Amino acid sequence: MSRTADADRTWLVTGGAGFIGSNFVRLALERKAGRVVNLDKLTYAGNRASLADLENHPDHVFVHGDICDVALVSRLLEEHRPRAIVNFAAESHVDRSILGPAEFLETNVVGTFKLLEAARAHCARHADPCFRFLQVSTDEVYGTLEPGDPGFTERTPYTPNSPYAASKAAADHFVRAYHRTYGLPVLTTNCSNNYGPYQFPEKLIPVMIQNALGGEPLPVYGDGLQVRDWLFVEDHCDAILAVLERGRPGETYNVGGGSEITNLELVRSICALVDELVPDSPHRPHARLIRHVADRPGHDRRYAIDDAKLRRELGWRPRLGLAEGLRRTVRWYLGHQAWIEQIRSGEYREWMTRNYARRGECST
Ligand code: NAD
Ligand code: TYD
Repeated sequence: MSRTADADRTWLVTGGAGFIGSNFVRLALERKAGRVVNLDKLTYAGNRASLADLENHPDHVFVHGDICDVALVSRLLEEHRPRAIVNFAAESHVDRSILGPAEFLETNVVGTFKLLEAARAHCARHADPCFRFLQVSTDEVYGTLEPGDPGFTERTPYTPNSPYAASKAAADHFVRAYHRTYGLPVLTTNCSNNYGPYQFPEKLIPVMIQNALGGEPLPVYGDGLQVRDWLFVEDHCDAILAVLERGRPGETYNVGGGSEITNLELVRSICALVDELVPDSPHRPHARLIRHVADRPGHDRRYAIDDAKLRRELGWRPRLGLAEGLRRTVRWYLGHQAWIEQIRSGEYREWMTRNYARRGECST
């Protein structure tokens, strides 16, 4: 069967109803970069409402399904003959991985393995020099840094500390092995913490925005002096597009925001933005709501990324700094309370109680 014009520009995106995936699908369609077949299991983190504006887009096909379903993935590959698989699908929340790691093994490790197997069989049937398998990974696989250490490079050994990071590291190792052993044309991106529109409100930034708006406590784990590097989600998606289009098969690329900040400083910045953008809030100043709570076990102290390779080889750089990105994000959440409300139902409430009730408040 020869490739069709559509196949030449089709991507199979997994996890495209999640936070980064939905932003990626939107950016790819806006840029007319390709046609997207979007495979998502719609776990608690997947949300069709995050794709509402793309429902009737002629270049977007949504498929409700699991990356572990090899028959389904193989059928999609055969039917659409994509030029790439972009794997966002994952369990992504560190705290959930601590309370229940099994699902992380199933989706992040076994799911990625099954996708690789389907891709390998597909490539054996249809030789296609343009085909790529892109694994969307995280800087958390590299472990933790001390203050003053240089940022992680692509050569930093993997030293994962949470079940989430371990599951992503295991998946990345399989991706690498499929290149070395079978010649599968893989690409891996390791990115720092993302933030922006459509992030599920269990992660730090949306938890703080929502709790501040509701006048609820702002739970800072431990002393709050842990350092993260933050990247606006559209900049991450832009990096993925660059790697898909121009990255060298077999290579990994670190992606960072160049914006290191302690959790406490970040939460204070969010409070200041909510003070400014909601001037009639009865909870001002929102920083008064900050509470130190029990720390996360095995909590990584610092992440920092050296993304010189991506900048040098592919000419990528982030467009949005943290101050402007945070402002846009707070504004987005203020304007999308209906999106939040339909998420903050049964499972979500149950999770928030389970995660925070056991932490209590501490005096740090
Ligand atoms: P998310 O939790 O918001 O979304 C994950 C999506 O995957 C959801 O739509 C969910 O329904 C889907 N999914 C889960 N299991 C599936 C399965 N078995 N089959 C098909 N779909 C499934 O996650 P996110 O924050 O958007 O992260 C996306 C990817 O980026 C993940 O692989 C994550 O490890 C990686 N990453 C995230 C960050 C970050 O800061 N959020 C940073 C670097 C890398
Ligand atoms: P998170 O958004 O879960 O991302 P990750 O653990 O992948 O970096 O958390 C970011 C940082 O914020 C991390 O150091 C844990 C901390 N944190 C809090 O202090 N309070 C919270 O309620 C949450 C969710 C996270």
